[in-house]
Amino acid sequence: MNFRIGYGEDAHALELGQSLVIGGITIPDSPHGAIAHSDGDVLLHALADALLSCFALGDIGTYYPPSNPDYRDMASAEIVQGVKSLLDEKIAGWQIHNIAAVVTLDIPKLGTKREHIAARVAQLMALEPSQVGITFKTSEGLAQKHVQARVSLLLSY
Ligand code: C5P
Ligand code: MG
Repeated sequence: MNFRIGYGEDAHALELGQSLVIGGITIPDSPHGAIAHSDGDVLLHALADALLSCFALGDIGTYYPPSNPDYRDMASAEIVQGVKSLLDEKIAGWQIHNIAAVVTLDIPKLGTKREHIAARVAQLMALEPSQVGITFKTSEGLAQKHVQARVSLLLSY
């Protein structure tokens, strides 16, 4: 069996009044959300890049250039599904063992949403929620208008 690790990151600036989407879940009662052409879902964008990085297949900008208006408002779940299909085409039998993600955000606290977000990511990737570990960190006030996700994963084929 061949193993590969993947790693991806994404960040967006936050603006009052925008909706905050993390891992496909719209977080209720958030005072701010990502400034983005898409839904600004940093977790799913980092996940898509982590998948591509496993096989040195570039990054999401390679396949969904933000300069192309067709991709501008694409739902992030669709990007993840597109990357998954691309891997299916190129690498027969690949499978993920686990996903480990860190979301850095000062406000709101997301701990109570952890299971909901993990369940959605698991569903998108055809995994069990127990295979999706998500941790949350603040920036300790140093980046209050910033949301960031880092995602690593282990895959075999
Ligand atoms: O960044 P810090 O170590 O102070 O975060 C303390 C805890 O707060 C984290 O371990 C996590 O459980 C929680 N947290 C959260 N939602 C965030 C940021 C942190 O639930 N947006
Ligand atoms: Mg701390």
